[in-house]
Amino acid sequence: MVYAEILAGGIGRRMGNNDMPKQFLMLGNKPIIIHTLEQFLLVSEFSKIIIGCPRDWMGYMNDLILKYIGVDDKVVVIEGGADRNGTIMNACKYIELNFGLTSKDILVTHDAVRPLVDYRIITDNIKACKKYDAVDTIIPVADTIVESLDGKVLSSVPIRDYLYLGQTPQTFKIKELVNTYESLTDEEKKILTDACKIFVLKNKKVGFVQGEEYNLKITTMHDLKLANAIVEVGLNHD
Ligand code: CTP
Repeated sequence: MVYAEILAGGIGRRMGNNDMPKQFLMLGNKPIIIHTLEQFLLVSEFSKIIIGCPRDWMGYMNDLILKYIGVDDKVVVIEGGADRNGTIMNACKYIELNFGLTSKDILVTHDAVRPLVDYRIITDNIKACKKYDAVDTIIPVADTIVESLDGKVLSSVPIRDYLYLGQTPQTFKIKELVNTYESLTDEEKKILTDACKIFVLKNKKVGFVQGEEYNLKITTMHDLKLANAIVEVGLNHD
């Protein structure tokens, strides 16, 4: 079975003073998270699309689904976790409890605040996860990336040809993800905020698929303005 989780458990601190988490802010004529959900609903492979959301916002999320999508048994809202990986683990538990787990079951995880993801990126993730237990979505870096270990002077300038920017979706064989996550110490769990990094650190192969520059993450108000401009001009549908 192939499942999706839209990660909406955060509150968007870096967005500044808002009275709601950033995934609920408007982008064009609908909330950011509805754009994201619509892209996932286009993919017929999913047997469930799970939305992991802060407990106090679950009712609000269900109301948004009714308003913009209508009644849809495929979509379910569950409580998010204390951190991003916690939100992913809650979906894994939900799936195991309600549908059981086999070693072939796949979970496509995606940031709610990357609303410009598209069908090609999502289905490429599903295909790649049949080969690899973990899959990342990446794009080549355009700028030179430099490293400074002390925040004062440069410590290295890595070769750009080997560097990429990580996006989402990140996709996993669910059993392998749960086992790998549970092998971490509490200390490691605090540091390893990126689910693919867990696999890399445990020397497990992570495949990747090509993302898109427009698949941006809305972190600040500036990003929201940029996403609005992309939606207005239709740059994500060229
Ligand atoms: N996320 C999640 N559960 C958490 C924390 C984050 O599902 N406990 C989700 C966010 O809702 C978001 C995605 O992970 O869709 C990417 O995280 P980020 O951009 O850091 O979102 P926030 O944690 O909401 O933002 P901030 O760090 O500014 O508070």
